[in-house]
Amino acid sequence: MLSKVFSTAISGLDAQIIEAEVNCSYGLRHFEIVGLPDKTVEESRERVGAAIESSGFLSPHHQPVRILVSLAPADLRKEGSLYDLPIALGYLLAAEKIKFNPQNKVFLGELALDGRLRSIKGALSSALVAKDKGFTELILPKGNAAEAGLIKGIKIVGVDSLKEAVDYLKGEKEIFSQKTNPEDFLKIPDCPVDLGYIKGQTSAKRALEITASGSHHLLMIGPPGAGKTLLAKAIPSILPQLSFEESLEVTKIYSVAGLLSKNKPLINLRPFRSPHHTSSEIALIGGGNPPRPGEITLAHRGVLFLDEFPEFHRNVLESLRQPIEEGEITVLRAKHSLTLPARFTLVAATNPCPCGFYGDAEKKCSCSPAQIQMYRRKLSGPLMDRVDLFINVPALKYEKLTSIDEENSSRKIREKVTTAREIQKERFKSEKILTNSEMEIPQIKKYCQIDSKSQNLLRNYVNSGKLSARGYHRVLKVARTIADLDNSENISFNHLSETLLYRARES
Ligand SMILES: Nc1ncnc2c1ncn2[C@@H]1O[C@H](COP(=O)(O)OP(=O)(O)OP(=O)(O)O)[C@@H](O)[C@H]1O
Ligand SMILES: [Mg+2]
Repeated sequence: MLSKVFSTAISGLDAQIIEAEVNCSYGLRHFEIVGLPDKTVEESRERVGAAIESSGFLSPHHQPVRILVSLAPADLRKEGSLYDLPIALGYLLAAEKIKFNPQNKVFLGELALDGRLRSIKGALSSALVAKDKGFTELILPKGNAAEAGLIKGIKIVGVDSLKEAVDYLKGEKEIFSQKTNPEDFLKIPDCPVDLGYIKGQTSAKRALEITASGSHHLLMIGPPGAGKTLLAKAIPSILPQLSFEESLEVTKIYSVAGLLSKNKPLINLRPFRSPHHTSSEIALIGGGNPPRPGEITLAHRGVLFLDEFPEFHRNVLESLRQPIEEGEITVLRAKHSLTLPARFTLVAATNPCPCGFYGDAEKKCSCSPAQIQMYRRKLSGPLMDRVDLFINVPALKYEKLTSIDEENSSRKIREKVTTAREIQKERFKSEKILTNSEMEIPQIKKYCQIDSKSQNLLRNYVNSGKLSARGYHRVLKVARTIADLDNSENISFNHLSETLLYRARES
């Protein structure tokens, strides 16, 4: 007998419908899976056999049957353990052990040897494609039901075991559709560090406000203990809430990476990723076999914080150039390439030199000129050319350390940031971007007009070599954000002058 059940295959972040055909005939004992399966899919044979037996059916391993499973389309690579459930059900149908109508249903799930179902990766993307292709039911592990339940218009059936799936399909057990209400997950948890708790550093806080508003890239330079890491840790407390569309986008990434928690099926907080400086290129930009999203994709729509920036391997830093520019990363695989989103805000922190006190008013720097030059070389080059704001974070004097900064509580700053983001959303509603940092040259021309006095100022900067052509465009984008924070339609001379304060590197 031949049976056909539907499942999905994940490629990148998106899923595709696949068919699992199972042919069962009497003959020498044999169990084969064809259709570009990876090792985990091949091992499915053993799990499926044991789970079927544990669920009270006769195991195919103990009977004179020949089973051929074909996963189609054959040229699409099938990865992971999610085919256990469709293969087991396909076999039970083909061997006429049970009867049900597999039409309009999609199945996913990894089987444990005792027949229980384990959660799989990418359930949200699978639910999306199943609904789009007109399927009416998705049967999957209970652990994945909450994330799949975010998708309306398809019945989401969460089951604990193969036995429960069979009972449901035979009509012997009723299971209601899982519905997840995104509103239940809108409340943002409190961030452990509030900007208001950090003393002084007013200009650094203002730079963080601008960065969070326009999604601009920032580098903080300062001596040890000045508070750079602390300031960065406060960033999540001022980032604007994700819209529902953005939340779904980010949740899909975490679902495919297997990082979604069962209790929190929707990610509503902008990601803040801070990989260690020993991280490899693959860990940062993604790839490997099977390919995984890297830190830059996990930071999509949020912040990638690189602390101790010059300590990162040079090739790792260089590999960030292309994704910073394009907002996505293409990972090469054996036969084809995979493109993943990576629109993140880069925040980096560094000491000015190896001992940390170069340029300090109080302490003397103990580095040799050659050491300083070597260190600084890492802070120049093409990646630094893509940074929008450079700020000095000086060591604080005692009086400032004891004063309280009520003006800059995270709540107040987040309100300003949110308003500035709304202005940008409205401005770009007919374009494909969300923030000022994403503007390309035609959009800069359109939205970043400046008066003649401002033009003269910028001309001086460019002519004296303080500003590169790329730097020039970056300055205009940041000035646009400062004007938005001021709720001003035009970029004024003051907005531009403030922007140039954040080009400390050039002055
Ligand atoms: N402005 C500040 N307000 C309150 N506490 C501060 C401030 N700056 C520094 N601190 C205190 O100093 C500690 C060290 O700060 P932090 O780790 O952020 O320094 P850093 O600039 O990252 O130093 P390094 O260059 O060595 O990494 C903080 O944990 C905090 O307790
Ligand atoms: Mg630090």
